[in-house]
Amino acid sequence: MSSSSPDERSLVLIKPDAVRRGLVGEILTRFERKGLRIDALEVRTLTGEFADEHYAEHVDKPFYPPLKAFMTGGPLVALVLAGDQVIEVVRGMIGSTDGRKAAAGTVRGDLSLSNRENLVHASDSPDSAKREIALWFPQLG
Ligand code: CMP
Repeated sequence: MSSSSPDERSLVLIKPDAVRRGLVGEILTRFERKGLRIDALEVRTLTGEFADEHYAEHVDKPFYPPLKAFMTGGPLVALVLAGDQVIEVVRGMIGSTDGRKAAAGTVRGDLSLSNRENLVHASDSPDSAKREIALWFPQLG
């Protein structure tokens, strides 16, 4: 029974393109209506150093320099969502990386036409969630 499963947590970023486009409410509403709990929420503007830490696995990739410029280019909303199987649930709700290919009904499929400016980031595994939550919200530890 889902009600007996312990809650899991995921680090979710509503990226600078979503803030600039006035989509924070739309995206947060989807998560709230799904029944997920918001355990932390904060507006932040990233330094380059912090972006490098968050995207440690991507820093050597060719797409990283423009991704870094984008992610540090304006405020974003960082949140920790909690709920039963939240990591997988949120990944399903945001859709695949490239907004042009993401399924209709997902955040990216409905609202993004880019594989960089794709509105949302969400932890992709329990290990990533643990690492990302410790980085962004160490007080939740
Ligand atoms: P995110 O889920 O935050 O994880 C890594 C990010 O890099 C991804 O979303 C996109 O914003 C970006 N990204 C991944 N692949 C590409 C790509 N091929 N070209 C440009 N940006 C990318």
